[in-house]
Amino acid sequence: MPEKGAMSWPSSSLKSSPLLQWRLGLLTALVLVGMVVIWSMDATTMKNLVEATKSQQGYLTTKVSAFANNLAQNHENLGVSTAHIVVNQTLKETNLTQFDSRNPVNHTQYESLSDQKSTGVSVIPASLNWVSANLEPNVTMNLLAKWLAPGGEPCKVARTVEIAIPDLDGKDLIELSAGEIYEFGFQALDEAKKPRCLGGDYFETDLSGESWKSRPLVKDFGNGSYSFSLQVHPDFVGSYNLTIILLFRHFEGLKFSPHRFAYDREIRKIPIRFYKGSAQLPELKVCKESDFGRDVWTGRWTRHGKNDECEISNDGRYRCLASSFPCQSPWCNGSLGSLESNGWVYSTHCSFRLFSADSSWKCLNNRWIFFWGDSNHVDSIRNILNFILDVPEIHSVPRRFDTHFTNPKDPSQKVRITSIFNGHWNETQNYQGLNSLKDEGFRNLIKKYFLEDKVPDTIIMNSGLHDGIFWSNIRAFSAGAKYAASFWVEIMESIRQRGLVVPKVFYRTTIATGGYARTLAFNPSKMEAFNWILVEKLKQAGILSGVIDNFDMTFPWHFDNRCSDGVHYGRAPARAKWRDGLIGHHYFVDLMLDHILLNVLCATR
Ligand SMILES: *[C@@H]1O[C@H](CO)[C@@H](O)[C@H](O)[C@H]1NC(C)=O
Ligand SMILES: *[C@@H]1O[C@H](CO)[C@@H](O)[C@H](O)[C@H]1NC(C)=O
Ligand SMILES: *[C@@H]1O[C@H](CO)[C@@H](O)[C@H](O)[C@H]1NC(C)=O
Ligand SMILES: *[C@@H]1O[C@H](CO)[C@@H](O)[C@H](O)[C@H]1NC(C)=O
Ligand SMILES: *[C@@H]1O[C@H](CO)[C@@H](O)[C@H](O)[C@H]1NC(C)=O
Ligand SMILES: *[C@@H]1O[C@H](CO)[C@@H](O)[C@H](O)[C@H]1NC(C)=O
Ligand SMILES: *[C@@H]1O[C@H](CO)[C@@H](O)[C@H](O)[C@H]1NC(C)=O
Ligand SMILES: *[C@@H]1O[C@H](CO)[C@@H](O)[C@H](O)[C@H]1NC(C)=O
Repeated sequence: MPEKGAMSWPSSSLKSSPLLQWRLGLLTALVLVGMVVIWSMDATTMKNLVEATKSQQGYLTTKVSAFANNLAQNHENLGVSTAHIVVNQTLKETNLTQFDSRNPVNHTQYESLSDQKSTGVSVIPASLNWVSANLEPNVTMNLLAKWLAPGGEPCKVARTVEIAIPDLDGKDLIELSAGEIYEFGFQALDEAKKPRCLGGDYFETDLSGESWKSRPLVKDFGNGSYSFSLQVHPDFVGSYNLTIILLFRHFEGLKFSPHRFAYDREIRKIPIRFYKGSAQLPELKVCKESDFGRDVWTGRWTRHGKNDECEISNDGRYRCLASSFPCQSPWCNGSLGSLESNGWVYSTHCSFRLFSADSSWKCLNNRWIFFWGDSNHVDSIRNILNFILDVPEIHSVPRRFDTHFTNPKDPSQKVRITSIFNGHWNETQNYQGLNSLKDEGFRNLIKKYFLEDKVPDTIIMNSGLHDGIFWSNIRAFSAGAKYAASFWVEIMESIRQRGLVVPKVFYRTTIATGGYARTLAFNPSKMEAFNWILVEKLKQAGILSGVIDNFDMTFPWHFDNRCSDGVHYGRAPARAKWRDGLIGHHYFVDLMLDHILLNVLCATR
């Protein structure tokens, strides 16, 4: 089948916006759409720091200015913020002088802007924006190129064991103004504390406070320098920890058997206090159909209620807040208690409705939803039935089924759900992933559902975990992803030729695997790369209506196994010994996803 270019990729904004066409050309592909704050010190401050280091003279308090620079657009929207940092020089161990010549942040580049902050006082000009990212153009090609980049020089062959964050290291108290985006450069260092000059290290980042959890965006400049961006909404000022873990070095997570290469060491835990400035962020709105055109999400979990006495019930559930406990606008809309998350909820560039049984039945009535994916779909479908549609008697759904469900409270309301497991062409086996399509019988099984006069109105796909085990490298997976895209193009074409309405296709990205699974064949580094590749192939094939970024949603909860058994976030509640040895487990991360699926389905009615 010929590919069809980006024919039906919906967001016209993707085409028209100059923001999205601008690129950094970097591996992590993270094109900033909003404000980028470049952390900067003026020359004298830097000199003071270096001299103070040399003389070991107690500690010094300095004010360092950071300023916003809307890189993506123009330089009119300058936002300036001030950070107060107390430096305890006796703690300083990094050899800063070593980095002066090759400082990860090129200060001269921003010299013209530096003039504006010589007073060190905040000037609050334009509106701020949320930190955001987008898929890098040609992400697969660029990833392959970076991965194959030749070594040779010692700084390329050297292996990262440490990092230096010139603007944070050695400082006792870091205070940042809420609302602003702070981008901090950092440098990968080898055993001898020498800078490495190739990228590809996989850092896990976490910014956590009492009522906030997010994954700071990491950019890889491909030359040993990286940056991360911090942003907290002004409603959530207070104490935070920024944690950085070096999980894999130089693309080693992408290997066929990555386990023995895992580094997995926490290299920073930095306390940060966010204080209230005068910055204001645009208020989130409930997600509309066009919001799902964004293929990489940079969301956060926020907390709006808490019951310290909450205990697991006999049926394994955490009914910590009353089921009617309301959402706080704008972070969600509906009843937060129904998530059973003890107050946590996820939002991204928009926020989500949490559905009642009535509203979800109303929206699903007469629909035909087709799922194609791994066992996470099996869990999600059961959870949708049990928790949202209020059909508690379905204790599990099989890997393959096609069923009409009826609203027990209103028999006139029906929904047809079809689900085909894609971990293997044989429903009882595993670890083929997209390669399951090489089996003709399996291809025909799928096609069968799209041959009649009525076809599914929406397809929700995922893939990844089984692929992580099957494909020996990225090149091979990319070929598999391309084939899968062409297979679906063929199905869509046949539907279109028969004059029927072509189903909307949503890709639900693969989870960030949790706890012990972080170092295995389906580790987060590989799953994130596989997500980019498959999303790119589906977009190029012109069949994708949107993305639900479950990777970003699961990431803040993937450091241990409280919310997943490693590979599933939606296992049925059970008051039983869990993977981490404790009794019970949390299932709200999948429940959040399930509500988001309903947001997609209901927004596209
Ligand atoms: C600076 O750090 C040293 C070493 O940890 C500590 O002994 C000292 O009390 C600190 N000084 C201040 C002012 O925090
Ligand atoms: C810092 O690095 C410079 C340049 O690599 C080196 O000459 C100097 O000896 C180092 N200083 C310390 C204290 O390690
Ligand atoms: C690494 O690349 C970035 C972006 O291209 C550049 O700003 C920086 O100066 C480079 N760093 C080094 C050490 O070459
Ligand atoms: C820093 O940026 C300036 C201006 O863009 C450029 O001329 C210079 O080569 C850069 N320096 C480094 C070390 O990348
Ligand atoms: C992507 O790759 C194509 C084909 O190699 C090339 O023509 C195009 O310029 C690339 N786009 C970007 C933004 O790198
Ligand atoms: C930060 O981490 C420390 C040590 O793990 C912990 O005691 C503290 O509660 C954390 N602070 C926040 C705000 O999470
Ligand atoms: C929630 O959504 C409903 C329907 O869209 C709307 O009428 C209501 O005002 C919203 N509630 C809040 C708190 O935003
Ligand atoms: C599927 O795999 C099972 C277990 O290996 C095997 O017994 C069964 O025959 C296979 N089914 C098909 C249709 O190949």
